[in-house]
Amino acid sequence: MTAHDQAMDRMYRHQRHFYDATRRYYLVGRDRLINDLGVPPGGSVLEIGCGTGRNLVKVAEKYPSAWVFGIDISTEMLKSASRAVARAEGAGRIRLARGDAVSFEPEAAFGVTRFDRIFFSYTLSMIPDWQGALRRAQQFLAQGGQLHVADFGQCEDLPGFVRPLLFAWLRRFQVTPRAELKQAFRHCAEQAETDWQFSRDGRGYSWHLTLGAARPR
Ligand SMILES: C[S@@+](CC[C@H](N)C(=O)[O-])C[C@H]1O[C@@H](n2cnc3c(N)ncnc32)[C@H](O)[C@@H]1O
Repeated sequence: MTAHDQAMDRMYRHQRHFYDATRRYYLVGRDRLINDLGVPPGGSVLEIGCGTGRNLVKVAEKYPSAWVFGIDISTEMLKSASRAVARAEGAGRIRLARGDAVSFEPEAAFGVTRFDRIFFSYTLSMIPDWQGALRRAQQFLAQGGQLHVADFGQCEDLPGFVRPLLFAWLRRFQVTPRAELKQAFRHCAEQAETDWQFSRDGRGYSWHLTLGAARPR
C-alpha cells in the first residue's frame, strides 16, 4: 500500500459513518453533476473516487437503464459503498472495485474498456497526481463520451476572507482545490480535439467542468 492509500483509509475509517450526513451541506453541486451527465439509454457511467456510493445510487435511480461503476482507493469507503449499493433499487446495475485513479484497469476490474460518462465528484482535490488521474480517465472515454468534474472552486467572487479560512479547513482533510483545473481541461480538450465547458456555483465555491460535447443547459 502507498502512503496515500493508507492516509485515505485512516481518514475514512471513522468518518465514513457520518460522511453522507455531514457532506450534504458542503459538497455542493453533486446532484447538478448527476443531472448534467445525460447518460444515453443503456449507457455506462464510471465514478472515480466513489466514496460511500451516494452518487452511484443516485445515478442508477436517475438513469434506469444505465450500467454504473465505481472505483475508490479506500477499502474503508468501499465498505460503506457496498452497503449502500446492496440496499439500492438499481443494485443489479452497480459494480464496485478498489482502484487508484492514476493506475486503475477497468477491464480487469469490470470487464469494461470504455465508458459513456466518467466523473470525479470532489475527488481531484484529494488526488496528489490529479493531472495523471484526468489523463487516465480520458483514456477510457467511449467515442462521443463525456468527462465531468464537480469540485471546490477558488471562491473567486466571495468575500476575501472566505478563501483562506475555507482552504485552511480543507487542508485538515487533505483537500487542495485545484486552481489549474481550467487549464488542464483546456489542454485535454485540445489533445482530444473536443469541446470543454466551465461553469461555477456559489460565486466560485464550486466549479463544474465537462470535457466532450455537453447537453445544452
Ligand atoms: C471527498 S470524497 C468524495 C466521495 C464522492 N465522490 C462524493 O461525491 O461524495 C473523495 C474520495 O476520493 C477517494 N480517493 C482519494 N484519492 C483517490 C485515488 N487516488 N484514487 C481513487 N480514489 C481516491 C477517497 O478515498 C474518497 O472516497
